[in-house]
Amino acid sequence: MTNPLLNATAVLNCQRLSKSHIDGKIHVDVLKNIDFAIHKGEKIAIVGASGSGKSTLLHLLGGLDSPTHGKVHVGGTDLSRLNEAELSRLRNRTLGFVYQFHHLLPEFTVLENVCLPLLIRGGHLADIQEQAIALLEKVGLKKRISHKLSEISGGERQRTAIARALITKPLCILADEPTGNLDHHTAKQVFETILELNHELQTSLLIATHDRNLADQMDRVLTLQDGQLHVL
Ligand SMILES: Nc1ncnc2c1ncn2[C@@H]1O[C@H](COP(=O)(O)OP(=O)(O)O)[C@@H](O)[C@H]1O
Ligand SMILES: [Mg+2]
Repeated sequence: MTNPLLNATAVLNCQRLSKSHIDGKIHVDVLKNIDFAIHKGEKIAIVGASGSGKSTLLHLLGGLDSPTHGKVHVGGTDLSRLNEAELSRLRNRTLGFVYQFHHLLPEFTVLENVCLPLLIRGGHLADIQEQAIALLEKVGLKKRISHKLSEISGGERQRTAIARALITKPLCILADEPTGNLDHHTAKQVFETILELNHELQTSLLIATHDRNLADQMDRVLTLQDGQLHVL
């Protein structure tokens, strides 16, 4: 059942969200009855020990995996009601993903990878390239735009992933350890780019991180422990 009041203000929310993994005979309840909402422009950090379920939660909220129980709504839409094509379209229109294994295309250039989400929507190539180049400049990759993904470093791939997540100007960015592989200076630069977008466009940010410094710059910090979210 949907709650219209909740959905009117929440960019993304979940109700009684649970996820269990069955690994051979071992049954692991990773997430237990989580209720959570992120509102327009809000910045939230999720912290928690390795294995506490941060990545699992972000995957469920982004519709990349299905819950065992419970519901996820993105922009007021119940994800469980969508077929694969509708889900892809909703993700492309509303969410920006920055994940550790970032699903970039190794045989394509940095510029092509960043343009792709907008090309899928069917925009004008020259306009899209202009936006992509501006973003790549912000994340310090202007000199790498013609390199293939297979020819750049891990940190540069991470920044490409961030530019690709930002180019669609999503309602909400879901980032899993977005600065994990980066040196201090680059991490700061990348994070500032994400914060600028939050400020300019009221993009909501949901970031799983180990970085206390980064978490402290969010509006709220939640800890994932024993399958539940706690206010820190
Ligand atoms: N596909 C899977 N199959 C079985 N167990 C999984 C799977 N994905 C994650 N897990 C388990 O779920 C728990 C949470 O993992 P994860 O969400 O990756 O945690 P975190 O991101 O906080 O490190 C871990 O115990 C992990 O081993
Ligand atoms: Mg993780």
